[in-house]
Amino acid sequence: MSARKPLIAANWKMYKTPSQSSEFVTAFLPLVQDRTRDEIVLCPPFVDISAVVAGTRGSNVHVGGQNMVWQEEGAFTGEISAPMLIACGCTHVILGHSERRQFFGETDETVNKKLHAALKHKLTPIVCVGELLAEREAGKTEEVLLRQTAKGLAGIAADLAHSIVIAYEPVWAIGTGKTATPEMAAEAHHIIREQVARSLGREIADGMRILYGGSVKPENAGALMRQEEIDGALVGGASLDPHSFSKIVLY
Ligand code: 13P
Repeated sequence: MSARKPLIAANWKMYKTPSQSSEFVTAFLPLVQDRTRDEIVLCPPFVDISAVVAGTRGSNVHVGGQNMVWQEEGAFTGEISAPMLIACGCTHVILGHSERRQFFGETDETVNKKLHAALKHKLTPIVCVGELLAEREAGKTEEVLLRQTAKGLAGIAADLAHSIVIAYEPVWAIGTGKTATPEMAAEAHHIIREQVARSLGREIADGMRILYGGSVKPENAGALMRQEEIDGALVGGASLDPHSFSKIVLY
């Protein structure tokens, strides 16, 4: 058994209003209330964070942002900072999701700056990495994962790194219904963990949780999570419904 506590996170992406978020929480909490084996995190859109924090107060469910910027405050229209997420009750933040890389110009360098800021403010960062279909087909998966992991972690002090979580999300598996097989995911996780060891040392690498994301559903969650290398899941579509997400948490 791995000593790493599994983390199951919902990434709601750009779905749900505050009232829909509250409805989700009301239905979801009773389904997972006795669950302590895993760390459970809901990452709603920014405008829903207050409703989700209010609804989950005193429960075993944590709340995270889906993105943030590295500055603390200033003239940065449309951005949200780490101190703001903390002030709203967030404990976690997703960084470098492939949709931010694809559609909003996120790079390894901006992910790295955000990671430094998240650690400074004691948010638990969930750093996303993963290859495009074209990169996998061109045999570049390992190269991409090594680059994203190394650049994402650049300059991070090992004594601050223990809270970092990495999510391996192959881009071709996101929202497509195509899941990496448990063996493919485990192989990618191993590549990432070896790079973490080179960047931050073996002890940090052995303790670091690496999640899988990409079409995780109640039907495939158990097989994925039984892999020694897979320490949890980052779930998109199947996290929008309280019943299907609770089945993933209870895999
Ligand atoms: P899906 O679970 O909808 O494939 O999304 C995965 C994801 O991007 C989670 O961050």
